[in-house]
Amino acid sequence: MKRYLFTPGPVPVPEEILLEMAKPIIHHRTAEFENIFAEAREGLKYVFQTREEVFILASSGTGGMEGAVANTLSSGDKALVVNGGKFGERWMKICQAFGVEVHEIKVEWGNAVDPQQIEEVLKKDSSIRAVLVQASETSTGVMHPVKDIAEITRQRDDVLLIVDGITAVGVFPIPFDEWGIDVLVGGSQKAFMLPPGLAFVAMSQKAWKFNEKSNLPKFYFDFKRYLKDAKNNTTPWTPAVTLIIGLAAVLRRFKEEGLEKIYTRHARLAHGTREGLKAIGLELFAKNSPSPALTAAFAPSGINAGAIISRLRERFGMTLAGGQDQAKGKIFRISHMGFIDRADIIAVISAIECVLKDLGYDFEFGAGTKRASEILGTE
Ligand SMILES: Cc1ncc(COP(=O)(O)O)c(C=O)c1O
Repeated sequence: MKRYLFTPGPVPVPEEILLEMAKPIIHHRTAEFENIFAEAREGLKYVFQTREEVFILASSGTGGMEGAVANTLSSGDKALVVNGGKFGERWMKICQAFGVEVHEIKVEWGNAVDPQQIEEVLKKDSSIRAVLVQASETSTGVMHPVKDIAEITRQRDDVLLIVDGITAVGVFPIPFDEWGIDVLVGGSQKAFMLPPGLAFVAMSQKAWKFNEKSNLPKFYFDFKRYLKDAKNNTTPWTPAVTLIIGLAAVLRRFKEEGLEKIYTRHARLAHGTREGLKAIGLELFAKNSPSPALTAAFAPSGINAGAIISRLRERFGMTLAGGQDQAKGKIFRISHMGFIDRADIIAVISAIECVLKDLGYDFEFGAGTKRASEILGTE
């Protein structure tokens, strides 16, 4: 059976990129690798829309998040964390592990944070040194208003905006320099359509000022070392050579397509997915501001989302993600990041309809596929 990967990370990798990565391994302290690294460096600046360096870490996204905290904050600092899902929770856990005090803004799952709330907390508590948020909260399929939050933090010299953009960078606009974000993290296994294993991090000049005072322990993720070495097209430690070769190839593709088209492609696939699901009476998990990276939808009442997911895998070779924690069994999540195209989305909506019919859901069979095709089937 042909297999389809619709999880919001890892995502499918295009064949041409797999073939690049299948070439014999080269040594990293060579001119050949340095040229590839230089291309990847420039390409990342293009995607992050920044003049700053974007570091390439040999870790999954969480390593980038850990580095973001460890390189900017100090023990006893207070951080305001937007917690609207599993990854908001991860920010809290990382801060706590490093002895950073957390002021939590709890956001009900499925909702985006109200920036006004952030402004109010910052006004009341001048000891807060950073705001940490997800641009796209993958556990709920919600996009938080980073641009509006940046307008609040950029007015304050003593507050950083640290953004987990792991399912945002390369999906929708999140211009680092223009918006005034201070730390932005990306990950390879999302819009970059690579295997897991790389994290990307950009730091603003304001963040570097914090770095001078930061006393949290750091070694492997010491960004000062990455900054020094990036200028020589290398990394402090053995880089993930194969993945960086793949990254350079992906970034070449990105430049050919152009950021605007990349964003439009994701927005269109997201729209087609959402409308297709709504046409068969399904409700989206995101109450407002759905992320263009993925669509999370409730299973119909009386049907466990796990049953939908397992049948899709058994009958159609399609892997989707379920819900986590409080959303477990209630929702399923479809990624439209990276190497997913219109035909994939039409196929998954159609397969969902087949499976829902089997499971006894009463709906107009074919309505979802029709709607998705109407949206996605034309040029
Ligand atoms: C928004 C978000 N943040 C953080 C992570 C964690 O990244 P990783 O699992 O690559 O460490 C993920 C990946 O699932 C994510 O989607």
